[in-house]
Amino acid sequence: MKHILDELDHRRAEARLGGGEKRIAAQHKRGKLTARERIELLLDTGSFEEFDTFVEHRCTDFGMEATKIPGDGVVTGWGTVNGRQVFVFAKDFTVFGGSLSESHAAKITKIQDMALKTRSPIIGLFDAGGARIQEGVAALGGYGEVFKRNVTASGVIPQISVIMGPCAGGDVYSPAMTDFIFMVRDTSYMFVTGPDVVKTVTNETVTAEELGGAKVHTTKSSVADGAFDNDVECLLQMRRLIDFLPANNRSGVPQWPSFDDGERLDPSLDTLVPDNPNKPYDVKELIAKVVDEGDFFEIQPAFAANIVTGFGRVEGRTVGIVANQPMVLAGVLDSDASRKAARFVRFCDAFEIPIVTFVDVPGFLPGTAQEYGGLIKHGAKLLFAYSQATVPLVTVITRKAFGGAYDVMASKHVGGDVNYAWPTAQIAVMGAKGAVEIIFRADIDDPSKIAARTKEYEQRFLSPFVAAERGYIDEVITPRSTRKRIARALAMLRSKHVEAPAKKHDNLPL
Ligand code: HXC
Repeated sequence: MKHILDELDHRRAEARLGGGEKRIAAQHKRGKLTARERIELLLDTGSFEEFDTFVEHRCTDFGMEATKIPGDGVVTGWGTVNGRQVFVFAKDFTVFGGSLSESHAAKITKIQDMALKTRSPIIGLFDAGGARIQEGVAALGGYGEVFKRNVTASGVIPQISVIMGPCAGGDVYSPAMTDFIFMVRDTSYMFVTGPDVVKTVTNETVTAEELGGAKVHTTKSSVADGAFDNDVECLLQMRRLIDFLPANNRSGVPQWPSFDDGERLDPSLDTLVPDNPNKPYDVKELIAKVVDEGDFFEIQPAFAANIVTGFGRVEGRTVGIVANQPMVLAGVLDSDASRKAARFVRFCDAFEIPIVTFVDVPGFLPGTAQEYGGLIKHGAKLLFAYSQATVPLVTVITRKAFGGAYDVMASKHVGGDVNYAWPTAQIAVMGAKGAVEIIFRADIDDPSKIAARTKEYEQRFLSPFVAAERGYIDEVITPRSTRKRIARALAMLRSKHVEAPAKKHDNLPL
């Protein structure tokens, strides 16, 4: 028996070395951890249960039969994050560059199936070169199996992709179909085809960082939802994110102990909105003062910063926050902001996470760049997402709610359950200047008449009361009581139940 146990230990130790000490050293030299080190950091200590440690590829082409490495470039299994079960796979770059073979794919799909069967989140740690070139179509088929499962699980269990090395081909397409993508700055890249292929096909000279680094994907392409400075910080932040997420679409949001009183008033909010309507203020200050202990996990902080999206908690339960940001482009809705918020709203709705919306929006951004870029379609995505949402929707208008943007931002008309306004709210088709120039065009050359008309318009429309008189606003609230009002509304809405008519699926404007 001792001999048998020694043999097991030996084989395990060999498997844990992956591509060998030299390659592990090279991985460390690049500032990256190994697949197993990453899993150790992501999961609770000692909770990892590994599957398929001894799986090897079955390729016989290009001399591959001589190079079999147990595990075949991916470490898979399950464990816990703060006691909650998750499934995980981590690409091992030290083994064939983490590339995907038929056997490697089977390890991932086994984990995907287990995650779906047990309705648990799945996290993929990517550091890999796409399809194993020596395996040809067997590798492509393997990716297809992974992709199909990504889609089947979408909206059922949270799927998180963490990009921790150079990723190409299928190793960017599978993440693209998951809920969130996070990257590590300076060591991770995502591209469908790398710089060498780009040079051959388009004659462009571009570095990996310029083509698909964290900066590009968090600020330009919006492929990634966030980036962190190194593997350790990234994995610790993933633990924090998982704490916000439900296990699945039926479990309801997790409830953590909260030491922050739901009835807490914050008098400083009474002076958050400046007297001058054209002066900005930071909506993140409002968010921090409303959520439990100021703890807010922002999604896509570096992209379309004119809208803020992310997770917080109220009385220990997760809420999704969507907020126009007056500090950036005056909080205007453009194509990027609409797409960003629409995707976030749809995630929250799919996973039964209530949404709190803070509104201060001067309207949609005018101009040829926006119109040619499909603002109509992108704006419609956000309108569609809110209109379709059946989760509790609590909306607070802090200042401007102009034009179509008023309707879009979780107004009563598209499904807002509880709609509040601060006394500083201005709810109208447009601001005073634009409105007066159109409806009193005949007086345009008479400054005194225009001034009088402007004042009249401001007094009548630039307040929350016209909307409140019609019941479009449920109550005009003091800013200091915002957290209390939201907490009570969310508690009241906990039993909200809406049956949408049966259909195969909707036709979201893509
Ligand atoms: C087999 C691979 C591999 C691959 C890397 N390796 N990618 N082996 N198949 N796809 C191996 C290398 O041969 C090398 O082995 C080791 O992994 C490390 O790779 P390096 O190139 O030395 O590392 P680095 O310079 O950091 O570059 C990483 C890389 C690059 C950017 C990922 O390796 C690369 O461009 N690989 C090919 C990417 C690609 O085109 N993949 C196919 C995509 S098609 P040794 O033994 O020398 O250490 C695809 C289809 C899916 O995925 C379907 C999509 C819809």
